[in-house]
Amino acid sequence: MTGKFITLEGIDGAGKSTHLDWLAKRLEQAGHQVLVTREPGGTPLGEKLREMLLNHPMHLETEALLMFAARREHLDKVILPALAQDVWVISDRFTDASFAYQGGGRGLAVEKLEALEEWVQGSLQPDLTLLFDVPVEVSRQRLSNNATLDRFEQEQSDFFQRVRDQYLQRAERFPGRFRIVDSTKRLDEIQNSLQHLFPIN
Ligand code: TYD
Repeated sequence: MTGKFITLEGIDGAGKSTHLDWLAKRLEQAGHQVLVTREPGGTPLGEKLREMLLNHPMHLETEALLMFAARREHLDKVILPALAQDVWVISDRFTDASFAYQGGGRGLAVEKLEALEEWVQGSLQPDLTLLFDVPVEVSRQRLSNNATLDRFEQEQSDFFQRVRDQYLQRAERFPGRFRIVDSTKRLDEIQNSLQHLFPIN
């Protein structure tokens, strides 16, 4: 038996983090052991890389390489061991974020990202990816409540538009594992619409 690997994605301010706790509790109620983690990060080294990635200006290829370096560590130390022990893993972002942000947002060639993906994770893909989708104006409105903004959150609307478009294109390309969640809806409406994906016996 192996656990399931679930990833949460969306542009900054799409509200994905709000649903994390709910999802973890729901899966626990369904009788699963659950591990919640995040990218970049999830390991001591990965969290150090996160700190640099979110705050230190760098070449876009350095950014992509560090995202995947953190991911390699995350897979090795956290994700793969948990799945092997039948633990369900929920990760706040994973490789789709690299395609959306470094690919869509920054304009890094998809072939380079695909090469890193193959290198770091082989054929491993999430079992389910929830894409929390909102128009860029809505996400920016939500971000304006934050006291401090990281290097990504400081980007302009056109950057987030490209990130969102890339996410939506990936959802279309991989319909088997993606579910698009309309994140302009109320919290309870969203949770009601997700319940059937995680039945409690
Ligand atoms: P985020 O997950 O939004 O955390 P918080 O809710 O604490 O702000 O922040 C992580 C940022 O990293 C986000 O702006 C997207 C970016 N990111 C990438 O650019 N590429 C990646 O591969 C990953 C995992 C994240």
